[in-house]
Amino acid sequence: MNNTTTTIDFANLSLAYQEHKADFDAAIGEVLSNSNYIMGEPISVLERKLGNFTGAKYAISCSSGTDALLLALMAMDIQPGDEVITTPFTFIATAETIAFLKAKPVFVDIEETSYNINPAKIEEKITSRTKAIMPVSIFGQTADMDTVNAIAEKHNLIVIEDAAQSFGATYKGKRSCNLSTFACTSFFPAKPLGCFGDGGAIFTSDEKFAEKIKSLRLHGQTQRYHHKYIGMGGRMDTIQAAILNVKMDHYDKDIANRQRVAEEYSKQLSGSVITPMLLETNTSVWAQYSIRVENREMIAKELKEAGIPTAIHYPKPLHLQECFEYLEYAKGDFPIAEKVSNEILSLPMNPYLKNEEIEYISNQLKTAL
Ligand SMILES: Cc1ncc(COP(=O)(O)O)c(C=O)c1O
Repeated sequence: MNNTTTTIDFANLSLAYQEHKADFDAAIGEVLSNSNYIMGEPISVLERKLGNFTGAKYAISCSSGTDALLLALMAMDIQPGDEVITTPFTFIATAETIAFLKAKPVFVDIEETSYNINPAKIEEKITSRTKAIMPVSIFGQTADMDTVNAIAEKHNLIVIEDAAQSFGATYKGKRSCNLSTFACTSFFPAKPLGCFGDGGAIFTSDEKFAEKIKSLRLHGQTQRYHHKYIGMGGRMDTIQAAILNVKMDHYDKDIANRQRVAEEYSKQLSGSVITPMLLETNTSVWAQYSIRVENREMIAKELKEAGIPTAIHYPKPLHLQECFEYLEYAKGDFPIAEKVSNEILSLPMNPYLKNEEIEYISNQLKTAL
């Protein structure tokens, strides 16, 4: 391959549609024919599939990954002033949902290996106001969930896995989304399992929480027009469920391909840049393949000129975001998160990348170093 003609697609959403176009068109067409746009049959089909796939007893679809987090926090009755421990190296929604309920996000630094919350640093942040721990399975692999769960159990806290990036990953052979009291995922189009709009799901094996979440996503309703809780309009569209039902049928293959792509990148790049590291207990679904380099801006520019898009997940850790100034964190509070934020660079990642394209990307990257 040469760089005069090459353009690489970062997430290749158009091919994701084209690959199963006839099935998607038929599934969407059926929803349109039935006009069952809200809570139609594909919703319950999807929820069954999600439950079977993860092993969680209840899978509840909803309007987005952000709303999934909000619904889980509302189900456990998080109140103003409560504290929820999480990581600063994540997408804003993780801590935003905590703050939205006027609870306090309390950050803990990450591990330099997995970029996930460092369990060894959690206990020192627990106070009498702490109600939950929210580890984020960043870039597609989970945190050390046994250790997180053990700390939670000792202090009577609930664990909510922010699994927006890790649906399908495993920890000690068990699926992400079935590792703690709650898990929340996102079906945002660019996620490993993405729909064609917004979508998300909450997972739990606790029947009472499951019932409450189902009610909360429907304005706190228990029967039509009878409202037990203050809830929200948080349902997934039937069309998105129909799309996800098609995608679920091919998801094992997509995961295998994402893993092939990641392995090929690591083969090409190890020794040249800091490549991602998997915990021994984990398999990843590679929401991102993110390397670390020191001269990131220059490298990204050169790759762009060679037809290779890159992205930065995430350039500024949450404790340094303007919206969280009131929490009074300062630069230097979470040195690993800050260092990783300065160096991280995501390369194109999708199941359709060919090994020769990965070689091209890797060669261009090594030249730019
Ligand atoms: C870690 C994390 N949490 C939460 C979300 C929110 O998901 P959504 O975009 O579906 O609201 C995302 C996705 O963007 C995410 O990456």
